[in-house]
Amino acid sequence: MQLCLQNLLLLLCFSCFICTFSALNSDGVTLLSLLSHWKTVPSSISSSWKASDSTPCSWVGVGCDSSNNVLFLNLSGSGISGEIGHEISSLIHLKTIDLSLNSFSGNIPSEISNCSVLENLELSGNKLTGEIPSSLKNLKKLQLFSLFDNLLSGEVSESFFQLPNLQYVFLNNNNLSGSIPDSVGNMSKVLLLYLRANQLSGEIPSSIGNCLKLQELSLEENHLTGALPESLGNLQDLIYLNVRTNRFVGNIPSELGNLNNLDFLDLSFNNLSGEIPPSLGNCSSLSQFAALQNKLVGNIPSSFGQLSKLEVFNFPQNQLSGKIPPELGNCKSLKMLQLFSNQLEGEIPSELGKLTNLQDLQLQENRLTGEIPVSIWKIPSLQEILVYNNSLSGQIPLEVTELKQLQNISLFNNFFSGVIPQGLGINSSLIQLDFTNNSFSGKIPPNLCFGKKLKVLIFGINKLEGSIPSEVGSCTTLRRLILKENKLTGSLPEFAENPNLLFMNIADNSIRGEIPSGLANLTSIPSINLSSNKFTGNLSVLGNICSLKEVNVSNNDFSGSIPETLLNLVKSSPPSFAGNPKLCLTCPPSKSSTCTV
Ligand SMILES: *[C@@H]1O[C@H](CO)[C@@H](O)[C@H](O)[C@H]1NC(C)=O
Ligand SMILES: *[C@@H]1O[C@H](CO)[C@@H](O)[C@H](O)[C@H]1NC(C)=O
Ligand SMILES: *[C@@H]1O[C@H](CO)[C@@H](O)[C@H](O)[C@H]1NC(C)=O
Ligand SMILES: *[C@@H]1O[C@H](CO)[C@@H](O)[C@H](O)[C@H]1NC(C)=O
Ligand SMILES: *[C@@H]1O[C@H](CO)[C@@H](O)[C@H](O)[C@H]1NC(C)=O
Ligand SMILES: *[C@@H]1O[C@H](CO)[C@@H](O)[C@H](O)[C@H]1NC(C)=O
Ligand SMILES: *[C@@H]1O[C@H](CO)[C@@H](O)[C@H](O)[C@H]1NC(C)=O
Ligand SMILES: *[C@@H]1O[C@H](CO)[C@@H](O)[C@H](O)[C@H]1NC(C)=O
Ligand SMILES: *[C@@H]1O[C@H](CO)[C@@H](O)[C@H](O)[C@H]1NC(C)=O
Ligand SMILES: *[C@@H]1O[C@H](CO)[C@@H](O)[C@H](O)[C@H]1NC(C)=O
Ligand SMILES: *[C@@H]1O[C@H](CO)[C@@H](O)[C@H](O)[C@H]1NC(C)=O
Ligand SMILES: *[C@@H]1O[C@H](CO)[C@@H](O)[C@H](O)[C@H]1NC(C)=O
Repeated sequence: MQLCLQNLLLLLCFSCFICTFSALNSDGVTLLSLLSHWKTVPSSISSSWKASDSTPCSWVGVGCDSSNNVLFLNLSGSGISGEIGHEISSLIHLKTIDLSLNSFSGNIPSEISNCSVLENLELSGNKLTGEIPSSLKNLKKLQLFSLFDNLLSGEVSESFFQLPNLQYVFLNNNNLSGSIPDSVGNMSKVLLLYLRANQLSGEIPSSIGNCLKLQELSLEENHLTGALPESLGNLQDLIYLNVRTNRFVGNIPSELGNLNNLDFLDLSFNNLSGEIPPSLGNCSSLSQFAALQNKLVGNIPSSFGQLSKLEVFNFPQNQLSGKIPPELGNCKSLKMLQLFSNQLEGEIPSELGKLTNLQDLQLQENRLTGEIPVSIWKIPSLQEILVYNNSLSGQIPLEVTELKQLQNISLFNNFFSGVIPQGLGINSSLIQLDFTNNSFSGKIPPNLCFGKKLKVLIFGINKLEGSIPSEVGSCTTLRRLILKENKLTGSLPEFAENPNLLFMNIADNSIRGEIPSGLANLTSIPSINLSSNKFTGNLSVLGNICSLKEVNVSNNDFSGSIPETLLNLVKSSPPSFAGNPKLCLTCPPSKSSTCTV
């Protein structure tokens, strides 16, 4: 009995001991209080965050100092929803909060400013709304401030950018409005500043030139106006500058030529005008340089030939004039050269053939004359060459058959002539060819569909002869075939294996014979034009193609009665059946020789 009592006392005493010493510390209590108003919490957290622990220091996502104060809270990508909770302000030792990639909603609690030693605040990828609380200006130690991919609105306050230690500022992909405060220049330590995809307006403050450590400045997709400040040229460490899709006007500042480390410069979709400053040829690290759709005039500076790291040079849809500088051929790393829709003239310099890494050449919609230099047709990496709507002439050289990467060639509306090399397509994977409105002669090369990728074959308005190669008829990937206005003869191949064909126009040739029965296999084609050829026989094959919305068989020598299934098309467009004296609507067997449409 005595022993029992003793045991009981011991037990009582022991549990008392546990009671006293297992009480959860105040940071732990705060965390549980946060947890209590989060709506969805994964079991990995709820099972780990135990009220019975004395400290939260071993809880999932929590880290402490030696005094069991919570130093970091990292619940990134945990699937939590609900409001963050103002109680977080009690965790006054926090250095890092990472609640990114959850579904937190509501406002950023302004009380978070009580976490006065906070260095990293990472709330990106949530559904936070409201303004950025002005109280955050008290977070004097803040280095990383990441709120991107939320629904935040309102302005960025002047005081915020005065936080002396900011290094990484990601406010992109929100709905922030107002202008970029002048105080942006107070961020003397900032390395990365991302403001893209907001509703920011006004000018870039020239104080930006004081952010001497800045490496990446991302301002694209806002409503920013005014001129680009010359002071950008002070940012010697700048690697990435993107102002695409804003409303900037004025000249490209020549001071940008001071940026020796600049790797990426995108000025596209603004209203920049004036000439391209030759000084940019001094941006020796530049690898991607784009200014699509602006109002730039004048010549492409020959100094750009010094840009030995340049991989992408895209200045289409401006008003550039003069010749393409041969010096561009020195940009040995160049992969993409897009200068389309300008007013460039003269010949394409043969020096461009030195661009042995070039994949994409787009010079269409200019005033270029002369031949495409053979040296260009020899660039082994070439995948796409678009030069339509120029005044180019000459032939496609045999060397084109060596280009194994070639996918797309668009030459339409030029003065090209000669025979298309018959080996074109062998060992390559052509996708799209448009040679419309030139003077090509000879036969259609048989191997265009060699790589089984060919989708678009447009050779209309040329002087091509011979028959349509049977390989074209069996090109299963083909979607669009236009061979109209040539001198093609022979009969039409079967086309029985082209389930993807959506458009066939072989009008104005001299193709003869009957419509092959295999054509009935084109079960999804809406439009066929066989007009002005020498076809004979009846239209029963066409009558079996239920998908037809448009058909033109005019000016041939078809006979017999028009299948009932086509009568609607006759009604909607009688001329599409005209010019076939032996074709009739309902042809009585006895009077077949007299009936016409
Ligand atoms: C939080 O944890 C994730 C996943 O472990 C990690 O990628 C991220 O860097 C951490 N955040 C911080 C601020 O340490
Ligand atoms: C913030 O800290 C101050 C003192 O540092 C304190 O008076 C106040 O209650 C705290 N606010 C919150 C919401 O924790
Ligand atoms: C963004 O803010 C504008 C007003 O500045 C508002 O009209 C619009 O609804 C907001 N869009 C979103 C997605 O919050
Ligand atoms: C911000 O910069 C301006 C001008 O560059 C300077 O006059 C001002 O003192 C700075 N403010 C802070 C808080 O550093
Ligand atoms: C450029 O200016 C024209 C005419 O002033 C205007 O209509 C257009 O919206 C402007 N484009 C941009 C991107 O600012
Ligand atoms: C490029 O830099 C060199 C040396 O810094 C300078 O002499 C030259 O004027 C610059 N070129 C241009 C076009 O600004
Ligand atoms: C060629 O054209 C096709 C279809 O338009 C396109 O998907 C493909 O990206 C183009 N190839 C190149 C190298 O640009
Ligand atoms: C090319 O030129 C033709 C004829 O001049 C014109 O109709 C067409 O819009 C131009 N552009 C394209 C993309 O075809
Ligand atoms: C054919 O090309 C020439 C030269 O580019 C052009 O003037 C003409 O308008 C084009 N014809 C058609 C029908 O597009
Ligand atoms: C195509 O490739 C095969 C095998 O690599 C080669 O024997 C043939 O010569 C090539 N043909 C052409 C036209 O390059
Ligand atoms: C037409 O298609 C059918 C079924 O898709 C197929 O069996 C037949 O072989 C095709 N005809 C020809 C001539 O390939
Ligand atoms: C068919 O070709 C003829 C002759 O080129 C042309 O007049 C007609 O518009 C074309 N019809 C269709 C539907 O493409």
